[in-house]
Amino acid sequence: MTVEGGVVQAAGEFDTVLVVDFGAQYAQLIARRIRECHVYSEIVPATMATAEILARKPAAIIFSGGPASVYAEGAPPAPPGLLSAGVPVLGICYGFQLMVTELGGSVAHTGTGEYGATTLELLEPPGEPAAGARTGPGGTLLSGLPAHQQVWMSHGDTCTVPPPGFTVTARTAATPVAAVEAAERGLYGVQFHPEVLHTQHGMEVLRRFLTAAGCRPGWTMQSIIDEQVTRIREQVGGARAICGLSGGVDSAVAAALVQRAIGAQLTCVFVDHGLLRKGEAEQVEKDFVAATGVDLHIVDAAGTFLTALAGVVEPEEKRKIIGREFIRAFERATREIAAQAGEHGETVACRVQGTLYRDVVESGGGTGTASIKSHHNVGGLPEDLGFQLVEPLRDLFKDEVRRIGEELGLPPEIVWRQPFPGPGLGIRIVGEVTPERLAILREADAIVREELSRAGLDTDIWQCPVVLLADVRSVGVQGDSRTYGHPIVLRPVTSEDAMTADWARLPEPVLATISTRITNEVRQINRVVVDITSKPPGTIEWE
Ligand code: XMP
Repeated sequence: MTVEGGVVQAAGEFDTVLVVDFGAQYAQLIARRIRECHVYSEIVPATMATAEILARKPAAIIFSGGPASVYAEGAPPAPPGLLSAGVPVLGICYGFQLMVTELGGSVAHTGTGEYGATTLELLEPPGEPAAGARTGPGGTLLSGLPAHQQVWMSHGDTCTVPPPGFTVTARTAATPVAAVEAAERGLYGVQFHPEVLHTQHGMEVLRRFLTAAGCRPGWTMQSIIDEQVTRIREQVGGARAICGLSGGVDSAVAAALVQRAIGAQLTCVFVDHGLLRKGEAEQVEKDFVAATGVDLHIVDAAGTFLTALAGVVEPEEKRKIIGREFIRAFERATREIAAQAGEHGETVACRVQGTLYRDVVESGGGTGTASIKSHHNVGGLPEDLGFQLVEPLRDLFKDEVRRIGEELGLPPEIVWRQPFPGPGLGIRIVGEVTPERLAILREADAIVREELSRAGLDTDIWQCPVVLLADVRSVGVQGDSRTYGHPIVLRPVTSEDAMTADWARLPEPVLATISTRITNEVRQINRVVVDITSKPPGTIEWE
């Protein structure tokens, strides 16, 4: 383990596959697929120096696809010498074409690119099979699979001549050289994308590459937990640590992991800002504590937040206030915990944070692309509170975090919670935030969540904000009386990453039940509307 700038660095104890990112939209997907094969994988930028890549001791390397033509000006080259460093390499699409050109083969603009589903035909390798290579049509990566199979293609240029010493193992109608290998050198290339689901046997191709490269499938949830427990103990030593809990999955899993490692040395802080949904504060205060046995310091700050938010309607203003109050409340709690620890001669030296691999990549730590959205950190903490950061989820994707949460026995409501903004219901009330309005929104939101779960739709949608248009009133009729109530908006969306989204087509009977229940059970609401706007142009949240 290395600790740089107070941050625990990536694992070195599992066989690691490095995905060299040539600007592919699929680099993350490749890393995820490799991890699905229980082999640890990380993304590195194509601009990383060869020595730095090799210093990470990769068991294998994958060159990703990329948007460029290998002949285009400024097309990213392979890190010099990497192909002859003795580490097995699989080139995919652009990565394959780079491998071909760098090793003496030819790629040409034939004018017959392929996009989408394409039929791949396996070829019988000529001559005697090389040592370590599988025999039969298709070579090491493809033999034994159907002679004709569907693969996903997306390329304009085409490999026409393989590099010397390489065997062509497959072709398509438009691409005479669609897969190559020099198994004795550990080099493989495919023009198609094995990582996408439309490639019928893509996972098998990746698995075969991993096997050929000698990668051991040791990356399991239990092994990750064991490894992290060891690392956390090394980093924290005998000091005390604190962790802010938000009610969400990341901080909960990070805390549970650290609790498993250092037990009573950890104190969690839960700032109840009064802006959570129905039952969520109780989930943290009761269920999480029961599941983990963690020492929890609860700050009931709802009154402070509401006072600070009084009269404020502008969304960014609300965010700033909530962010500021959150940091204040957390710092106050920290001082109290530090004072208590000091009485026993202990110091609080570490702060646990549920940073995910995605955050690392998006903030430039992985591939050098800086695209993080600043306002989404609202409700979080700045890094310079004077603690050494413990980030046990830094290498993990969200679904891996959820699986670890399950393995650690956390309540399903926390493990499977949909994304929820740090400023909470504060930005789901369009207008001033008041206790009465929060109560109305909480009831309506609880009904929506309950009905979506009952209909089995939780995994079909990304999230479903429920928004109270608190300053709008419309006329209605309930019983025999005229009403003058508020509309509530359902915003169910499907999405991969919240950067873009589409409105979810919820089944009509589910919408009907939600609408009837809300207008029957929440007296102040007399209209239920559904937002049918994609993102862009609409954001997911209304504020
Ligand atoms: P938008 O509304 O920008 O939201 O389409 C994208 C994703 O981010 C969440 N979101 C936030 N998360 N603090 C957060 O922690 C915020 O201020 C914030 N605003 C939006 C939103 O729920 C969605 O998942």
